Amino acid sequence: MALLESPRTRRRALRAATLTLGCLPAVWLVHAAFTDGLGANPVEKITHETGAWAIRFLMGSLLVTPLRRLTGWRNLTLERRTLGLFAFFYACLHFSTYLGLDLGFELGSLGEDISERPYITVGFATFLILGALAATSTRAAARRLGRRWKPLHRLVYLAGIGAVVHFLWLVKADTREPLIYAAILASLLGIRLWWRFQARRRSPQRSPDRVAG
Ligand code: HEM
Repeated sequence: MALLESPRTRRRALRAATLTLGCLPAVWLVHAAFTDGLGANPVEKITHETGAWAIRFLMGSLLVTPLRRLTGWRNLTLERRTLGLFAFFYACLHFSTYLGLDLGFELGSLGEDISERPYITVGFATFLILGALAATSTRAAARRLGRRWKPLHRLVYLAGIGAVVHFLWLVKADTREPLIYAAILASLLGIRLWWRFQARRRSPQRSPDRVAG
């Protein structure tokens, strides 16, 4: 472990670990696609896997700030954006699978689904939010948006809620998995509210902006 002693090496190791973790599900899916490993219904399998990884990375990005505050490891903040971008990447694959392989690129059917099937409506709205966050996640965009950047990026909480509602709404019988995500999300939002409340109590005049993220 002597190798990980320098802060720079630790930062690089963390970076490499995040990038590897983010690419692994896609590599596995491509491998499974070429080796008949996607089962009897490959389109359904890809839709499920990409949706599941999109929500996992989204929860991962929301976990970064609490983890950083609890461990004091500031380098973690750098990984928040990467995890969010991976969430958007898997959401793009998820949406493309649905639009291309399920609907055969019929935009009319997509419009009908968005207006008639509530879980698709919520999924699509969540996808748009993730797209807006990804598009404005660069330093240049943050500079351009100035003070509006932070309120815009608070939409990540709405995306988390949208992803959980989408999942809860689409399952027919066994709600255990989406309920686990709902519990994780409630804890991640709850701890932020608690910190906000504590910060207000300590200094009622100042807005506790540092809690955001
Ligand atoms: C772009 C709009 C979206 C569409 C059209 C869409 C569509 C779908 C469809 C058709 C399914 C499978 C439903 C079934 O099994 O009957 C699904 C599952 C799922 N989607 Fe989406 N979705 C969208 C966006 C999202 C987003 C943004 C997320 C998360 C960030 C997400 C997360 C999930 C999850 C977690 C599942 C269940 C995966 C599992 O079964 O393990 N979806 N979605």
